[in-house]
Amino acid sequence: MWGICSRMVKAGVAKPGGLVKPCHLVKPVSATRITGRYLTHQKGLPTLPVPPLHQTFERYITALEPIVEVDELMHTKELVNDFQKPGGVGEKLQRGLERRAQNAENWLSEWWVQVAYLDYRLPVVIHSSPGLVLPRMNFSDKQGQIRFAAKLIAGVLEFKTMIDNETIPVEYLGGKPLCMNQYYEVLSSCRIPGLKRDAVVNHAKSSRPPKHITVVHNFQFFMLDVYNRDGTPLTTEQLCVQLERICDASLTPSAEPVGILTTQHRDTWGKTYADLIKDRTNKESVLAIQRSIFTLCLDGPMPQVPEDAYRSCAAVQMLHGGGSLWNSGNRWFDKTLQFIVGEDGTCGANYEHAPAEGPPIVALIDHVVEYTRKPEMVHSPTVPLATPQKLHFNITPEIKKDIEEAKQKMNELANDLDMRVIVFSHFGKNIAKAHKMSPDAFIQVALQLAYYRMYQHCCATYESASLRMFRLGRTDTIRSASSASAAFVKSFDDPNKQNTEKVDLLEKAVVAHRSYTNLAISGQAIDRHLLGLKMQAAEEKISIPDVFKDPSYAKALHYRLSTSQVPSKTDCVMCFGPVVPNGYGVCYNPMNDHINFAVSSFNGCQETNAADLAQAMESALVDMRTLLEQTPRAKL
Ligand code: COA
Repeated sequence: MWGICSRMVKAGVAKPGGLVKPCHLVKPVSATRITGRYLTHQKGLPTLPVPPLHQTFERYITALEPIVEVDELMHTKELVNDFQKPGGVGEKLQRGLERRAQNAENWLSEWWVQVAYLDYRLPVVIHSSPGLVLPRMNFSDKQGQIRFAAKLIAGVLEFKTMIDNETIPVEYLGGKPLCMNQYYEVLSSCRIPGLKRDAVVNHAKSSRPPKHITVVHNFQFFMLDVYNRDGTPLTTEQLCVQLERICDASLTPSAEPVGILTTQHRDTWGKTYADLIKDRTNKESVLAIQRSIFTLCLDGPMPQVPEDAYRSCAAVQMLHGGGSLWNSGNRWFDKTLQFIVGEDGTCGANYEHAPAEGPPIVALIDHVVEYTRKPEMVHSPTVPLATPQKLHFNITPEIKKDIEEAKQKMNELANDLDMRVIVFSHFGKNIAKAHKMSPDAFIQVALQLAYYRMYQHCCATYESASLRMFRLGRTDTIRSASSASAAFVKSFDDPNKQNTEKVDLLEKAVVAHRSYTNLAISGQAIDRHLLGLKMQAAEEKISIPDVFKDPSYAKALHYRLSTSQVPSKTDCVMCFGPVVPNGYGVCYNPMNDHINFAVSSFNGCQETNAADLAQAMESALVDMRTLLEQTPRAKL
């Protein structure tokens, strides 16, 4: 049975019960942070606004137009009018939100982490945690795997120094400085399963921050100190020696891949976790993983696939490990950051989404990839190093049963996921720019066209927009299906329409998308505000207003297209699963002259097919360019 899904929750479908009480393990993110330039920067950022009530509902009605029926829209308009009437519940909730905004660093962020992530009970694997596929690296054996992994660790430690020294260059979007908090949340942190709600702990902020990483090889976990006594990071040579020791100590797969437990439904894992850590050894081993700076997964092989399927297979490896017979047990999916290195040059990462979005993770990975490409400085190890410590687990028959169940569930999940990674090589951002259009909007409009060609209707579409212009900002939703995009996609294959008219409609659709993006990144989109009003109702113990029980609202949140742009300097692509059973997950990295796409769907759904959508995307992009090139513009 399908429960609530990640991006549905993100948009506010989750039950708001118990939202107001912050979990004790989730520290208010900036409260314990260091002083200095980070704090000065953060303090200078504006706080997230609460948009005007009428503005949001006017835009809500507009956003519904392309995706609901006329009679549904009429009904929604009545509910909206009722909700907004003077002295009514809408105004009351709005005032409550405005009060909250005056007293919080960010009125949304704590709610958001709870509702979108920690209260979300489907497995994090596929449903919430993205994978990231890097270009295939230049090695193809164990030696190469170890050497590359050693360099990767050294690269992350170099980045960590920048985090520790607060010297990460401030990022900008549209000329405005961004909140840098997420960089301080991704290392030394971990999700902890609970019986009803999870938590995240960040050990970087503890009085004794961790100095070790965890390495997992053949399903066995090791604790590896990555700093010398004098505080200097281990060199690549030292790390190679240590990784070799780990591999030698774990030559055959362990009997019990305990890490696979982290792939379970969160309630199930929460219960098993409570049992697991009753044993002292287990508790210490789990704590060592949770406290570690990050986890490095030295993977075993994946199924052999033809070369043209390599990237899709690598995406599967990063997203879920391929199932219990392959690498799904070679993970701790609760860990915020896991780097994954195979023996065949495959590498990438998987990250638990609660503490951060893709862009800071990708910035870290860009740095690491750059680091691994630098010529190696040869340092010989100075002092003998302590043997990496194996983390032991005592497995009771009950836990063994849970592991078997987790394997089975993971395999079902893995079999259900269809993942296609394609490199669209005809053009990249360059063509849209040459036509004076926003590349992101161009791609999103192409996706609308692809979907319409397949299904002859438009669907609610989610694109992540960054709210990092605001202190502790996370994301809002760009609703890519607009009346303008609907007009364009309906006209595109209509033989009765002139090309000039189609170009005009294309331009309008692209401009509409870019305008919505501008609204979203400046805190004036609708979805987080609607969520906030609903949460405020729960906070004030007011029954959920009808406008949120309306079928149109449910339709608006049923994202058959869940999409995100995650750009990077490295030629990589992020990937994630669909958020509804009959939907698609689409992540893309637009480079200058090509675009990497990762498209996912569920095999269990007869209506969807990742390869078909990927193919339709390619055709839509090519056809849109052809249209632009074949149609003289009215005015140049
Ligand atoms: N003519 C010519 N060039 C244009 C243009 C136009 N009309 N409009 C935009 N461009 C240029 C931009 O200047 C930019 O140039 P650059 O490559 O030199 O930087 C480039 O095209 C890209 O702009 P655009 O395609 O409009 O997108 P964007 O970079 O502004 O990104 C979002 C849009 C929505 C992706 C971004 O605002 C965002 O929010 N990103 C975060 C998403 C996120 O968090 N994802 C992860 C979720 S896990």
